[in-house]
Amino acid sequence: MHDSRETSLTKAFVAGYPIKHSRSPLIHGYWLKRLDIAGSYQPIEVAPLDFYDFIATLKDGSAGFQGGNVTIPHKEKAAALADRPDELCLELGAANTLWRQDGQLFATNTDGAGFTSNLDERHPGWDSNGTAVVLGAGGASRAVIQALRDRGFKDIHVVNRTLARAQELADRFGSAIHAQPIGALSEVMKGAGLFVNTTSLGMDGEASPLIDFEPLAAGAVVTDIVYVPLMTDILRQAAYRGFATVDGLGMLLHQAVPGFEKWFGARPVVTPQLRELVIRDMDGPR
Ligand code: ATR
Repeated sequence: MHDSRETSLTKAFVAGYPIKHSRSPLIHGYWLKRLDIAGSYQPIEVAPLDFYDFIATLKDGSAGFQGGNVTIPHKEKAAALADRPDELCLELGAANTLWRQDGQLFATNTDGAGFTSNLDERHPGWDSNGTAVVLGAGGASRAVIQALRDRGFKDIHVVNRTLARAQELADRFGSAIHAQPIGALSEVMKGAGLFVNTTSLGMDGEASPLIDFEPLAAGAVVTDIVYVPLMTDILRQAAYRGFATVDGLGMLLHQAVPGFEKWFGARPVVTPQLRELVIRDMDGPR
């Protein structure tokens, strides 16, 4: 029998290598169900050498996808191969969200918006001080730095073990960004209103070096983009000193919103139930 839902099924994907750890299918699957949309969102493992061909099938429509997400290690190539990368992903040199429109492949990067939306939701006023300290200068810190600059932060101190990588980001993102060696951490934290960990320190419950949060401004917020575990060692240290903390899970949830809207035509909402669903999944076997 002909199933009209099947013929009108809108398909989206997340492509990475490996991909089995991605929680994006859980997030989008939840929204599809909640909003009763005839759509699918599937994980696809695409090896680096196959990515060009994968993009070609997306562009010519033969894969049948309306769009999707790309994750490590494809974000840079996705930005380069899209027909219409937006300004955000051109500056970052990385895309995480793709969609087909008017016969062309569009690309953007929603990581920065996910980062700021998470803080807006969980700690309104987090951006009032204008000075931030960002620990780390890897791929993940780029979207954070861009988002903070675009939010109007006047001074963004990027502190990194390898100073040259921090300097690269200062050169890329402009005069509000200051590259700093690890030894300057305490000094640049003086009076700052936001501290962001973008390194892998604390991941999977590892202990981090001790950080003295005392110099931060009264009322400062400390956040981490690591979200396994939710309470990282860095957040625990900051909370112990009496600072407000925001965990990184909301960044993952919020970065998914614009893509879903592009592909499926409805803007989904990040709810406490969705957060609980992902937390339960994190507690389960992987
Ligand atoms: P991602 O794309 O996830 O950001 P990455 O590009 O490998 O990953 O960057 C990891 C970041 O964590 C870098 O800033 C790295 O510092 P270096 O640039 O000096 O390598 C930082 N990092 C990782 N392990 C660290 C450690 N033990 N101490 C301090 N910084 C660390």
